Amino acid sequence: MTPTNIGLIGCGNISNAYFEGCQNYTDIIKITACADINVPHAQATAEKHGLAFGGSADDLLARPDVDIIVNLTIPGAHTDINRQALAAGKHVYCEKPFALTAADTAAVVADAAAADLRVGSAPDTFMGAGLQSARQAIDDGLIGTPVSALGFMLCPGHESWHPNPDFYYKFGGGPMFDMGPYYVTALVNLLGPVARVSGAAQTTFAERTITSEPRDGEKIPVEIPTHFSTTMEFVGGPIGTLVMSFDTPHTDLPNIVIHGTKGTLNVCDPNRFDDPCFFKPAGADKFESIPMTHATGRARGTGVADLATAVISGRPHRASGHLAHHVIEIMEGAVKSPAEGRHIPIESTCERPAPLPCSLGQSELDA
Ligand SMILES: NC(=O)c1ccc[n+]([C@@H]2O[C@H](COP(=O)([O-])OP(=O)(O)OC[C@H]3O[C@@H](n4cnc5c(N)ncnc54)[C@H](O)[C@@H]3O)[C@@H](O)[C@H]2O)c1
Repeated sequence: MTPTNIGLIGCGNISNAYFEGCQNYTDIIKITACADINVPHAQATAEKHGLAFGGSADDLLARPDVDIIVNLTIPGAHTDINRQALAAGKHVYCEKPFALTAADTAAVVADAAAADLRVGSAPDTFMGAGLQSARQAIDDGLIGTPVSALGFMLCPGHESWHPNPDFYYKFGGGPMFDMGPYYVTALVNLLGPVARVSGAAQTTFAERTITSEPRDGEKIPVEIPTHFSTTMEFVGGPIGTLVMSFDTPHTDLPNIVIHGTKGTLNVCDPNRFDDPCFFKPAGADKFESIPMTHATGRARGTGVADLATAVISGRPHRASGHLAHHVIEIMEGAVKSPAEGRHIPIESTCERPAPLPCSLGQSELDA
């Protein structure tokens, strides 16, 4: 099969993970071009990776030899770039969060449907061996009927390592929109769609001090809540609680724990592909790892390769715009509920993405 040509827009921090991760799927996708608002940086990136093109987003979008745009710009630029890419006749896969609002997400998904093009969104970690094994265990009835899901992401924020952390403290950032996509997507994949959301949120610090280079010592304002305690009521019955914070030291709490009528599943970090999951049956006194039912070794780029394969075969792609829309509406509900003092009903819904067949190798996707 000839690999599908990929154009990256946004050559920042995370682009390195895509250049590396897409190497896993050389039979399926090939990065041939890149662009950035900083054109010399795009040119240098293209040269470094031996690409056919490095330049502006407009020039990249005009190229007939690019089929899928991978949008790795900052969250505030996602919607404009996604719409421009669709208008140029390209399929789109966008880093998380797909958009700053559920309304923008729905508009882009509608654009794609009208143009008969695909849109997809990170995260794709739910296609990794860890979360696929957890899904298999739940679907096989290991924990019985799911009752409760707990998710914890508590950290001191990203200004200690990211060179330009401003966007994490603006509308569309914060722990919910930055890290929520991993947690909420994992939970929707495991337990299905959510009916309503409620909770509390606060902004603990009005400004943050960057301690990474090159802006060490610079202060940046905080425009959004940075600590959340959110309740998610799943359509299928279980109640989820998420605690997401940029205002705390790192924590030893588990990432995700799902309690069922027959036992407890300690699910791996939803920001990783291959970590193991652990199960403790009701009445037992310790957790034991569950079998990895899927091949390890997947990385970023899996969602892009899945989308490229799905375009050719005509099947649905897993990290879809519909999934992103539901996830963003849930995260938006977590922000709206404390601001408006009410439960927020979730209007969108989505199918759980199809599980990956266990037989696939780490560089394979199902036709
Ligand atoms: N850094 C990470 O570890 C990480 C991990 C997972 C996901 N993400 C997500 O990836 C996205 C990018 O994050 P990052 O850390 O790489 O940010 P970054 O600031 O390092 O890079 C963003 C790049 O996009 C370019 N850009 C901004 N606006 C543009 C526009 N309108 N047109 C063209 N280029 C534009 C910038 O010049 C920059 O090179 C974000 O949505 C983020 O949430 C980042």
